[in-house]
Amino acid sequence: MPISSRANSARNASQVRAMFGAIARRYDFLNHLLSFNIDKRWRRFTVKKIVERLGRRDFSVVDLACGTGDLTLALRAATAGRVVGMDFCHPMLVVGKQKLAHKQLPTCLLSEADALRLPLRDGSFEAVSIAFGFRNFEDYDAGLREMLRILRKDGVAAILEFSRPQAPVFRQLYHFYFTRILPRIGDRLSGVPGPYAYLPDSVGAFPSQEELKRQMEAVGFRDVQYYNLNGGIAALHLGTK
Ligand SMILES: C[S@@+](CC[C@H](N)C(=O)[O-])C[C@H]1O[C@@H](n2cnc3c(N)ncnc32)[C@H](O)[C@@H]1O
Repeated sequence: MPISSRANSARNASQVRAMFGAIARRYDFLNHLLSFNIDKRWRRFTVKKIVERLGRRDFSVVDLACGTGDLTLALRAATAGRVVGMDFCHPMLVVGKQKLAHKQLPTCLLSEADALRLPLRDGSFEAVSIAFGFRNFEDYDAGLREMLRILRKDGVAAILEFSRPQAPVFRQLYHFYFTRILPRIGDRLSGVPGPYAYLPDSVGAFPSQEELKRQMEAVGFRDVQYYNLNGGIAALHLGTK
């Protein structure tokens, strides 16, 4: 089945892995182009909020579904603690490792792993983050439970994900861009038909800000809070173990 026609039942791990493998080389370029570079600001905001909630700068963190490592690198620059990035798509990690090699940053491990079955001990990190990867999980509750499991008590989880713009007129304009323009440019410039149509499909099937908040609370996170970014195009959810 072509990825573009998969709507809610779209979260099949091997298709997601193959899709990101196919666009890995052009992923960063298209990400920044199609978001007008706003994605960089969202990742910086995520790091800032993790630091604020933990109340210190020397925390350990695992960045799940790290892809080419943009959030991992921002975290690496922000904390003196251990930073690990994990993703199940090898070609994305290859690009991430190349980027890391060009930065004058302390060690940062990028490793291949499925976020639903993490090779990490219970309570082994003070923070866990995920940017634009959570939506692709086959099972959201399983993903949340894994995040909770690997966090220490009082550890912080941060989920940055595309969401639902709130204001009606803006929502319609954005919907037009997101469903009509972005997939065409994305397909053309990536040279791969499908992934950039999958994006609006998968965002449309994703829980609203309030629903995700409730799901986080239901698995056991406390003090769950979210921030709408750029009118709700994206949202950052934070929860504490
Ligand atoms: C849109 S990219 C986001 C990459 C990066 N976090 C960023 O902010 O640019 C989504 C990533 O999630 C990864 N991913 C999706 N499901 C995953 C899973 N179950 N385990 C590990 N990685 C996963 C994909 O391989 C892909 O690299």
